[in-house]
Amino acid sequence: MAKEAVKYFGVDPWKITEKGFDPERSRVSESIFSLGNEYMGTRGFFDEVYSGDSLKGNYFNGVWEDKPITYFEHFKGLSERCCFMINAHNWIYTRIFVNGEELDLNKCEVKDFYRELDMKRGIVTRSFIWKDVKFTFERFISMTERTVAAQKIEMESVGFKGDIKIVAGSDFTPIHEEENRNFWNEIFNENGCIVARTQSSGQRVYCKFGANMAADKYFAEEKKACAEYNITLGNGEKKVFERLSINIAEKDTSIADDKFIAECDIKADTLLKTSYDEYKTAHEGFWADMWNKLDIVIEGDEENQQGVRFCIFNLHQTYHGEDGSLNVGAKGLTGEKYSGWTFWDSETYCLPFYMFNNPQAAKNLIMYRYNTLQQALERAVEQDTKGACYPMVTIDGTESCGVWQHGNLEIHVTAAIAYAVWHYVTNLRDKDFLYNYGARLLVETSRYFASRGGFSPKNGDFGLYGVMGPDEFHMMVNNNTYTNYMVKKMFLYTIEVIEEMKNECPELIPEIEDGELEDWKYKADKMRISYDEETKLFEQHDGYFDLPHIDVNSISPDRVPIYRYWAYDSIFRVNMLKQPDVVLMLFFFSKDFTMEQKKANYDYYEARCFHESSLSPSIHSIMATEIGKDDQAYEYAKYASRIDLDDYNRNTHQGLHITSAAAAWMNIVYGFGGMRTDDEILSFKPTLPKQWKGYQFKILYRGKILTVAIKDGKAKFVLDGEAEPIRIFDKEYNVGKEGIEVEI
Ligand code: BGC
Repeated sequence: MAKEAVKYFGVDPWKITEKGFDPERSRVSESIFSLGNEYMGTRGFFDEVYSGDSLKGNYFNGVWEDKPITYFEHFKGLSERCCFMINAHNWIYTRIFVNGEELDLNKCEVKDFYRELDMKRGIVTRSFIWKDVKFTFERFISMTERTVAAQKIEMESVGFKGDIKIVAGSDFTPIHEEENRNFWNEIFNENGCIVARTQSSGQRVYCKFGANMAADKYFAEEKKACAEYNITLGNGEKKVFERLSINIAEKDTSIADDKFIAECDIKADTLLKTSYDEYKTAHEGFWADMWNKLDIVIEGDEENQQGVRFCIFNLHQTYHGEDGSLNVGAKGLTGEKYSGWTFWDSETYCLPFYMFNNPQAAKNLIMYRYNTLQQALERAVEQDTKGACYPMVTIDGTESCGVWQHGNLEIHVTAAIAYAVWHYVTNLRDKDFLYNYGARLLVETSRYFASRGGFSPKNGDFGLYGVMGPDEFHMMVNNNTYTNYMVKKMFLYTIEVIEEMKNECPELIPEIEDGELEDWKYKADKMRISYDEETKLFEQHDGYFDLPHIDVNSISPDRVPIYRYWAYDSIFRVNMLKQPDVVLMLFFFSKDFTMEQKKANYDYYEARCFHESSLSPSIHSIMATEIGKDDQAYEYAKYASRIDLDDYNRNTHQGLHITSAAAAWMNIVYGFGGMRTDDEILSFKPTLPKQWKGYQFKILYRGKILTVAIKDGKAKFVLDGEAEPIRIFDKEYNVGKEGIEVEI
């Protein structure tokens, strides 16, 4: 794979470090040093004014605006409205004056610049010396109280004597870059407390801060609430400024402003009674507990160690399932690209991470789809189909994709929701969820596919026509094998669940029309899956094997994204793949396929894959491991875990690839760990990359922690509770506290 790393950050198992500031990489650093807690997120821009290139991005999960999508005509079924997560207020707005001169790293010369993200504690610090004052900044966004964000500025004289002025504020003026405008109207601004409302969705954000020193004055500017602090610093002296900022987002537009503000005031005043250090201790405790339960340790490879921890860290920062109305945006809360949208990534790539780390988050990821079922039912009607048709990209449950080839044709997104129900229930055995919510999702998605497909007049096969599969380099194809296979499996699973419910809880069975189950069974049996017994190849879609060949290695790695350099339709005229498609099917339904099939299809499709999607390398690494291509597996894994740290796609400045971080986690656990979760019993076939001395990972399995440690030619499995059956190298063991050790 022709992608090159940009080595900029220091390598350390627990930290991301930056020594010396390079303005050219300022936006990349802002993405890397982002902090978040699912509710809100802040890029790692400087606290103080910086007149150089910067995206002062602050985002609230699910706080959006919308805009029309226009065509020259009304085309039925094409989305006409786009929702996007907007840039909110800068809660850490700061101005610093030393003896009257303002600090701006674009203009002032500073010494010993150093910045670090400590992933063990979830804290970002930065320090430098300017005008004989050593400034040390610290910030965190609380994991234990989601509305609290905290900032600390230490000023230590190293020969300085004089005055320092700090202006701290909450600033609603930043523009949303993608739209080049600001979306906030101020509705209240007094004594350092400010409230603003989005212009069309009417959502509100309240912000009030408190500091460890008394303000000399409060003042308001348009969309900005500020306080001024004057500090005198003697030679050798150190002073510390601490601020706690309370940020409350209200999406319910029916509550009156007065009531909202009064309630927020009470909440903020209570929250401000707790000290900076108390919040910090609780926040560090959250991370300590999290790492203790779920860390991945790699011996002998600091780069991958750092990379995989960075992925785990960012997944928890983006989502931990506190709120069923929230989801994982492809770029999380770290940038504006992809507009905070939820993709099928959540069900296919992110769900396993949460299933085996945080079951409540896993359930809530699927509940998000249940909570937006009504929108999917309405969308199906728009598409001349029945049941539920889920959007390709969304925030509020409606389709936001303005490129219809994706929005309308990527129907595998709807299959991913049924797949998620199956995957979650198979592994977590949450029958309560299945009967009360999952079954409805299965029925409505089956109903959709039964009405979306058709029969071939040639041979009576049932198939899905006019689709785009996971590989987005082929558009309006017939019978994408991945989608067809997925839908076939989900038809059969839906029938199985309904049969089970007839005995267990007939009163909860969702409404089903006469003959529907038989129809789904017939369509599953007749589903076209193009397969050539001789070569063992599945054809990606009808006619794929006839497409002109192109050597993916002949394309310069700098020509990405490809749609910017190639005429749009020319992408679809050759056999190059953007990301795994058939290979993904072989991974998701591992036990359905033979090793021979896996080898043949991996070799064939890997050679044609350009990996333009960041989701691609880890799946290839997982499958390469399974078929014994160890060197390739290692190369792909490295790319997956460090995609942002080494800016492989040259787009980290736009934000982090959060859903690919979940794929990178899978890369270790499913790849080298060889875990498979498509059967009633969890199974493993661990391997040890020759570049590593050993590694260990932990997963939460049915309420207990399973530790898997691989070293010195052995794999050890320990479950910290009552034993569970686990398959290791095709043999079933009862793994409990004493553990099981096998040769690898
Ligand atoms: C991929 C999609 C993915 C999206 C968001 C695209 O580049 O092709 O499969 O859903 O990115 O991660």
